[in-house]
Amino acid sequence: MDPTRKILQDAFAFRSSIMLLSAVEAGLFDLFREKSVLTAPQVSHLKGWTLRGSEIFLNALAGLGYLKKHDEQFEIAPAFREVFASENYSLLREWLMHQWRLLRRWTQILEVLETGKPARELNREPRGANHHNFILSMAHREKRVLPDVLNMISLEGRHHLLDLGGGPGIFAIALAEKYPDLRATVYDVPETEPLARQFFEQSPARERLDFRGGDFLHEELGENYDVVLLSSILHIYGPEENRTLLKKVFRALQPGGKIIIRDFLLFRNKTKPLFAALFAVNMLINTQSGNAYSAAEIKSWLKEAGFRHFRTGRFSDKWGIIDAVKPAETIRRGPQDQRSSK
Ligand SMILES: C[S@@+](CC[C@H](N)C(=O)[O-])C[C@H]1O[C@@H](n2cnc3c(N)ncnc32)[C@H](O)[C@@H]1O
Repeated sequence: MDPTRKILQDAFAFRSSIMLLSAVEAGLFDLFREKSVLTAPQVSHLKGWTLRGSEIFLNALAGLGYLKKHDEQFEIAPAFREVFASENYSLLREWLMHQWRLLRRWTQILEVLETGKPARELNREPRGANHHNFILSMAHREKRVLPDVLNMISLEGRHHLLDLGGGPGIFAIALAEKYPDLRATVYDVPETEPLARQFFEQSPARERLDFRGGDFLHEELGENYDVVLLSSILHIYGPEENRTLLKKVFRALQPGGKIIIRDFLLFRNKTKPLFAALFAVNMLINTQSGNAYSAAEIKSWLKEAGFRHFRTGRFSDKWGIIDAVKPAETIRRGPQDQRSSK
């Protein structure tokens, strides 16, 4: 591509994001869903927006393809009708609102680079302020990828899953439904419990689902699990915290137990896939020590914790899975064992 063209394209990209996310925040698509067809003066009246602003905003939203304009009337464009009418839109909306918050924080990137502080700290946002929205936006993301996750994970013969940082528990629920002999424990911060339990209640496997509240960095995980899932967890923390956490998971597993890590995986030189490289920036802006990692880095921590028999599967340029096993006979790690541990 012509280099100047790329520069202009990247520089302009924010405009479409802001149009979409602000329309969602304003509840515009809900309004159109309710009223079907509206003119700019009607939107101006119903939303309390200026008439000039409403006209310009609706025209641009139609230009982006989300609305269709006919004479002076606007409606949701046919391609998006199903999405905005669907009952899944409430979770998608949570996800989009999460992105909207992230977008504002991203504008503080230079301050983050200069101070080393995440945006949340720079803005003095109270801890857990957006937890409800965050957990529901995770539920949206988990439901989107669920069929692929279920295809890539086999828990045949496993009895007790720990879904560490399992959030709303969408994966734990689906796995318990798929494997009738499986119990699943979702471990997350206590504030997540009411939301996770709401999802549990809707599942035919609810009797085999439970929630354990705590801080997995500083509290016990429980024991005797035969499989532990860490999906989108390692990127929240730095290498030291992750190495400690993986050792803790190792102790919580029965011999022969399996660890499954699902995350955005960078290639070795860390510039690609682009999605993961940009996700690392997201972690820079939003966490104290988070990052995106390569499969090689994660495997080295797993190996140090005592895990063996690594397998890596890349689902897409966005994410992949690494699994490994706690050997049936726990290896006392000396130089010789390290050699035989491939
Ligand atoms: C990025 S979300 C991932 C949720 C889910 N595993 C998924 O793949 O969608 C991270 C989850 O880990 C939880 N979490 C992060 N740090 C934690 C900690 N120290 N102790 C307990 N839960 C934690 C968060 O509350 C959140 O639900």
